[in-house]
Amino acid sequence: MSRVPVITIDGPGGSGKGTIALRLARALGWHLLDSGALYRLVAVAALDRGVRASDETGLARMARKLDVRFEAADDGVAVILEGADITDRLRSHQTSEMASRVAALPSVREALAERQRQFRQAPGLVADGRDMGTVIFPDAPLKLYLTASPEARAERRYKQLKEKGESVNLSRLSQDIKKRDERDSTRAIAPLKPAPDAHVIDSTEMGINEVMDTIHKLIKESNISH
Ligand code: C5P
Repeated sequence: MSRVPVITIDGPGGSGKGTIALRLARALGWHLLDSGALYRLVAVAALDRGVRASDETGLARMARKLDVRFEAADDGVAVILEGADITDRLRSHQTSEMASRVAALPSVREALAERQRQFRQAPGLVADGRDMGTVIFPDAPLKLYLTASPEARAERRYKQLKEKGESVNLSRLSQDIKKRDERDSTRAIAPLKPAPDAHVIDSTEMGINEVMDTIHKLIKESNISH
């Protein structure tokens, strides 16, 4: 195929998409798009500047102009917004809530769409999100939809946040995840759902290595050149 190959990984929060996408991008030597980070960045900027979740026009304008850089760091990717490293704020409860609200606004999604497509650069791209296979890269040669039970996902997020030293409560986290799942799946624009041609992987009972093995097999079976 003539276009730069993309592997899309969509799915709900806590399904392991982020970890898997990062590993896969490293293994293939491809670029990585963490599209959720873009929605989270808009959320952080909005909270800092006092732009409300109801101000769709203001949020979209901000999303279009955000000065963002992703830099390789020892433990993943550092996110730089207007010159400041805001990586640690990206996954907080407050940011997650606001991100899921701004992500439901059509003008914000539109403002971020072109930015996301610009990540498609040789030799290839691994794109992680909710609508990578359905809306942003519908022609991707390999689409994955990673999911897990709500309980397993809440537990994974719990561990992740604990490791970062955040004080978290498992039952509140479970409720948050359910609320966000509901909002992401029922919104009118780009709702969370597998593309018709996506391979669905349920990782409830699987470790990371098993998921990676499954994906490598799918890559071999598909016609992706790398
Ligand atoms: O994946 P992550 O949890 O970082 O995404 C944060 C929020 O951004 C999600 O709750 C979802 O509402 C939104 N999102 C989206 N479309 C994407 C990626 C994330 O709507 N492609």
